[in-house]
Amino acid sequence: MKDPVRVSITGAAGNISYALLFRIAAGDMLGKDQPVALQLLEITPAMQALEGVVMELNDCAFPLLSSVNISDDPGVAFRDSNIAMLVGSKPRGPDMQRSDLIKDNGAIFSVQGKALNDNANRDIKVIVVGNPANTNAFIAAKNAPDLNPANFTAMMRLDHNRALSQLSTKLNLHHTELSKMTVWGNHSATQYPDISNVIVNGSAVSDQIDQHWLVNDFIPTVQNRGTTIIRARGASSAASAASAAIDHMRDWVLGTPDDDWVSMAIPSDGSYGIQEGLMYSFPVTCIDGNYQIVQGLDISDFSRERMIATEQELKTEVDAVSHLI
Ligand code: NAD
Ligand code: LMR
Repeated sequence: MKDPVRVSITGAAGNISYALLFRIAAGDMLGKDQPVALQLLEITPAMQALEGVVMELNDCAFPLLSSVNISDDPGVAFRDSNIAMLVGSKPRGPDMQRSDLIKDNGAIFSVQGKALNDNANRDIKVIVVGNPANTNAFIAAKNAPDLNPANFTAMMRLDHNRALSQLSTKLNLHHTELSKMTVWGNHSATQYPDISNVIVNGSAVSDQIDQHWLVNDFIPTVQNRGTTIIRARGASSAASAASAAIDHMRDWVLGTPDDDWVSMAIPSDGSYGIQEGLMYSFPVTCIDGNYQIVQGLDISDFSRERMIATEQELKTEVDAVSHLI
């Protein structure tokens, strides 16, 4: 039996976590031969609810769950952690943008960045889910000067999966027949879901898609899917967010499929002209626990304009949190 991987999850009594913890404990994220030790963080008033979640985890008798520890102290929850899934933070309501959450949520990520810096395994892999995810990941990385900033990422996989689902429905295909989807930029209404490189049965999908549908339907539907779900459910996406977080971490740790890539928000290295350091979503491949930006893609004027708009929004968000870094 392998040694357990230590997985820290924040906001562990919340909605997303309720759809996340049980799948991780069942082996959906790290594999069916990989034991996990869960280290769960909540705020003090939610600790009783978290105790109930732990009872349920125990009652599942998962073969791969080696231990569960809970705490309201980030220093404890992140101790020697190999993977951190930073979910805990306030969700938005129907008439808010995700960036409206910076005031309430930003400070959480400076505290947690420091706690990761002081306690986590030096090779920790961090995914930020809590919104505004890209800028929160930026804040966390800046507060962890002893860790490699490349270890901090934000979740764009939900947007990536949404784009696959919308496009496959339009083409009357199963989404597994599509590859090389890209979502660029910020997890916000400026994100750019880009089908320029999508392949189906060996040929480019863009030849089969009319520009009117792309501009007036596909792109805004993906960009605004979170809002549409909040309006329909009265609460933000939870099960699909948890599933996307599992996809993101699984592919980062275990690798992306051959001949495909995924979208991850990572610190820009200046590729495609995006300002260095911004937590921007790129197409990436993962191998041996490392990700690499897919290089050399042709960028049309149409794409460039949208990539810059979402970059611009991220620069504005970052300017608004200078006091937290
Ligand atoms: P929720 O309110 O159900 O749960 C959040 C939990 O976080 C609560 O239990 C709360 O007590 C806890 N929490 C708050 N502050 C904390 C802190 N400092 N430390 C630890 N825990 C803390 O919300 P949810 O539906 O689970 O959503 C969580 C976040 O994820 C929101 O910000 C939401 O907008 C975001 N989200 C992101 C995506 C994405 O694609 N990136 C998708 C869906 C939701
Ligand atoms: C989503 O995209 O579903 C989440 O970011 C929740 C939200 O606020 O839209």
